[in-house]
Amino acid sequence: MRTAASLVLGLLALLVSTTSGSPLSDERFAATLLPEHSLRFTEPQLCDPSVKQLSGYLDISDTKHLFFWFFESRNDPENAPLVLWLNGGPGCSSSTGLLMELGPCKVNEFGNDTIPHPHSWNTNANIIFLDSPANVGYSYSDSVLDAPTTTPATAVDVWTFLTLFISRFPKYASLPFHVAAESYGGHYAPHIAHTILEKRAEYPTLPEINLKSIVLANGLTEPLSQFEELPEWACESEWALWDTDSKECKDFRAMVPAMRQLTKACYASNSRVACVPAGFYAFGRMYGVIRQTGLNHYDVRRECEDTESGTCYPELRLIDAYLDRTDVKLALGALPDREFKGCNMEVNQKFHFQGDVMKNSARLVPDLLNAGIRVLAYVGNTDAVCNWMGVEKWMEKLESKFQVEFALTRRVPWFTKDSKLAGSVRAAGAGAGEYAFVKVHDAGHMAPYDQPEATLDLIQRWLADESLV
Ligand SMILES: *[C@@H]1O[C@H](CO)[C@@H](O)[C@H](O)[C@H]1NC(C)=O
Repeated sequence: MRTAASLVLGLLALLVSTTSGSPLSDERFAATLLPEHSLRFTEPQLCDPSVKQLSGYLDISDTKHLFFWFFESRNDPENAPLVLWLNGGPGCSSSTGLLMELGPCKVNEFGNDTIPHPHSWNTNANIIFLDSPANVGYSYSDSVLDAPTTTPATAVDVWTFLTLFISRFPKYASLPFHVAAESYGGHYAPHIAHTILEKRAEYPTLPEINLKSIVLANGLTEPLSQFEELPEWACESEWALWDTDSKECKDFRAMVPAMRQLTKACYASNSRVACVPAGFYAFGRMYGVIRQTGLNHYDVRRECEDTESGTCYPELRLIDAYLDRTDVKLALGALPDREFKGCNMEVNQKFHFQGDVMKNSARLVPDLLNAGIRVLAYVGNTDAVCNWMGVEKWMEKLESKFQVEFALTRRVPWFTKDSKLAGSVRAAGAGAGEYAFVKVHDAGHMAPYDQPEATLDLIQRWLADESLV
């Protein structure tokens, strides 16, 4: 992937020419090793007209065009942190985070407009919502062969995007930067952070991404521990689906040894051949047990309302309808003839067929901690897809500079600033924690959707490095 890196060399000698008279700015960046980068962006007035916005495409190579929608903070944007938000899938657009969970607006009940969101994370943060990798959401590639089908390749493209973004918009370059990623983003975020550190050493003259933390939001990061704990969560947790002595629990637990053997082989070789079978077993058979209940596997308090699409939330179809509107695409500088789909299942399948899904992304975390990058994992407790017990377990097991301190620490209640009990927190290190686990009460996979006030409290305090206890 050295070519992707070389694209941005020489970016400091930035050459910008803007097409005048068009609301859509079409710029070309001159770079030393590759002739130019294109940036086509506009300043939309949708969603949250109270703040400055940017949206459009940044071409991170000749063939790959990544769509972003950026919102300044509602308060003090000059000093507020910069956050990159990614949803998971793999293959899903950040539109879910933007229009259903934590963005400045939500899609309305008809899917033809938006309504303001008072608890948006842009209350105190500048946020980039990025459709990643290429071919997800509005992002696209001219050559299918070129588009990433693994997390490491995706991370390099995101790094290229970020480097170009802060080069073109330097007022955001010095702000503290955080990567927050949900679900499959539990794989993405550690890789993106690690890539940022690697590239900093490799290309010291490029503008530096001021990385401070990663936030794993109901993330899949270390599949072995997380699938080991799935039957425990389903049989022992406060949201258990079955009695612990039931046949269901006995059968579910009986799947663990096979999963463990396959996943250990995957971890040992980190190869496609070893990891694909582990993925089929865990995603097919073990998630299959949960799916068969007919419950919403993202939030077992609910039935799966939209079984047709398997996504369980009617909002997701409304988001697709909204972002597929021609007027919206034009307002955002997105390609009007590209059909918007929240999730690209071809991209999803490709990641599965690379064995990417079962690889161990937690192995990158110790390097991040050693480099002073803070790590937060929060998990809604009613989520079956990324159960909280599995996340706490991998964090306990991980051999890092915080292992002993984390082992000696117990979860303590987390009260929001207005004194509501919102969950519990277990943190090692200074401040809000340098290595922290948060269990969010009465929240599913999309915790900000279920608990907007509590998760805003959490993210504000994490970004400001203020303790939750
Ligand atoms: C959205 O759809 C509803 C119901 O059809 C309609 O009443 C409303 O005017 C529409 N709004 C926009 C902005 O098109």
